[in-house]
Amino acid sequence: MGLLLFLGETKMAPTWNEAMATGVVEIDGDHRKIAAVFDDVLQSLAENQPREMVIMVLTRLVDALCEHIDHEEALMRSIGYPDTAPHHRDHDQYFSMLSQLVFDCQTGNGGLSQNSLGAVKAWKTKHLETFDRPLAEAIRRRPVG
Ligand SMILES: [Fe+2]
Ligand SMILES: [Fe+2]
Repeated sequence: MGLLLFLGETKMAPTWNEAMATGVVEIDGDHRKIAAVFDDVLQSLAENQPREMVIMVLTRLVDALCEHIDHEEALMRSIGYPDTAPHHRDHDQYFSMLSQLVFDCQTGNGGLSQNSLGAVKAWKTKHLETFDRPLAEAIRRRPVG
């Protein structure tokens, strides 16, 4: 069952839904996993869990993201994808954003808020539409054999 949170007056829907599917099994599997861990982060915040617990879940999110970035970039290389550089830059930006969140959380410098997670979620959506869908399309259209 998905988690529902409230960001101010805005209801935050569960992170994954089938409309996010790209049709490429490898990519969708990773995205589902990232979304599930993202939900765990939201839940840890909603439950007001201790900082160390939130950091642990957030670290799982960074790990899942690193794994996915490696995976997607290997897919790009394997098909000789022409738009690798901007996609790679956007991955780097996401990784930096999350690493900063972990750092802030660890140092008590502002830390994690539902607003900062909202920004991460907005990035995820934009990245999916701008970079991952075109990549998925290229993978689906590649000649077999
Ligand atoms: Fe991507
Ligand atoms: Fe992706």
